Amino acid sequence: MKNEPTIYVAGHKGMVGSAIVRELQARGQTKIITRTHAELDLCNQSDVAHFFQTEKPDQVYLAAAKVGGIYANNAYPAEFIYGNLIVECNVIHQAFLSGVKKLLFLGSSCIYPRLANQPIVEEALMTGTLEPTNEPYAIAKIAGIKLCESYNRQYGSSHGIDYRSVMPTNLYGPGDNYHPENSHVVPGLIRRFHDAKRQVAPSVKIWGTGTPSREFLFVNDMAKASVFVMELNKEQYEANTSPMLSHINVGFGSDISIRDLAYLLKEVIGYPGEIEFDTSKPDGTPRKLMDSSKIQGMGWQATTPLKEGLYEAYQSYLKYLDAQKT
Ligand SMILES: NC(=O)c1ccc[n+]([C@@H]2O[C@H](COP(=O)([O-])OP(=O)(O)OC[C@H]3O[C@@H](n4cnc5c(N)ncnc54)[C@H](OP(=O)(O)O)[C@@H]3O)[C@@H](O)[C@H]2O)c1
Repeated sequence: MKNEPTIYVAGHKGMVGSAIVRELQARGQTKIITRTHAELDLCNQSDVAHFFQTEKPDQVYLAAAKVGGIYANNAYPAEFIYGNLIVECNVIHQAFLSGVKKLLFLGSSCIYPRLANQPIVEEALMTGTLEPTNEPYAIAKIAGIKLCESYNRQYGSSHGIDYRSVMPTNLYGPGDNYHPENSHVVPGLIRRFHDAKRQVAPSVKIWGTGTPSREFLFVNDMAKASVFVMELNKEQYEANTSPMLSHINVGFGSDISIRDLAYLLKEVIGYPGEIEFDTSKPDGTPRKLMDSSKIQGMGWQATTPLKEGLYEAYQSYLKYLDAQKT
């Protein structure tokens, strides 16, 4: 690749970071720098400074974060706010000091108010109260957006930097977290249907009525969106954002009820039993869908149909189980 930039993908062992590395490699990118958490703790300021000064990457994808479900967010709020703020401050500031011109920060749809109008537009940011269960995490993610914007505003012209942010909806796919207490909806259901199939259980019980709807995006599509936003020309990016409202939503474009998702997974996994909805359990927010018309208007669209993505996710779960055995 002519004039190939050197790209650091922070968090390359994670679900999103590994998908970004696969996407960059598929595009012929060879100069990719990675460090595992054990090799470089991004909470350690002097180690991060030394890394950037030594490696001097041209671009950074910031996909390292302390991530978890409701249980972990509720149980460890201090770790979630500190762990994410410090990683963002260290990476963004040291990237700037070492001369990184382009950086992409990955946030999350939880930055939006709990009662935001649906579908959620970028402009909904900071217009209302956050969901209390993940407020510390969301505040750290909002700070990440504002770090990028503030560095652009102060140093954009003088240092030629261009730091951008994308806000993904719920993601699923290879590399997902299948922890029994700490996983998101799709990996949690994959695990439960697979276990029920193996144990020949007559039914799988799902919390709530199954009527709430959610949006799910295959992680390979998210990786494509990340590279798409990183590579958007500056004029087009600036025409679609403003200096203090610069983040871009990345969603599948439509939502599905938990009931329909459960029946789709039952089919994909080949579980022959019944699905029971435990209506004594709470449903949560009735609907959560991002408005992705901004990125779609610029030319990106999710391409993996949900059923196909769920099939691939299940295949990767089977590989993960095999790897656990060896
Ligand atoms: N998964 C989703 O559904 C989803 C949805 C919306 C947004 N996102 C965003 O996408 C990004 C990546 O999420 P993901 O699902 O890929 O999470 P993930 O699988 O947990 O990956 C995060 C990676 O960051 C690493 N990391 C965390 N703290 C670190 C530190 N102090 N130093 C070095 N490495 C560190 C983790 O390493 P260890 O595991 O070794 O700690 C892990 O490899 C996050 O910003 C998240 O908010 C994800």
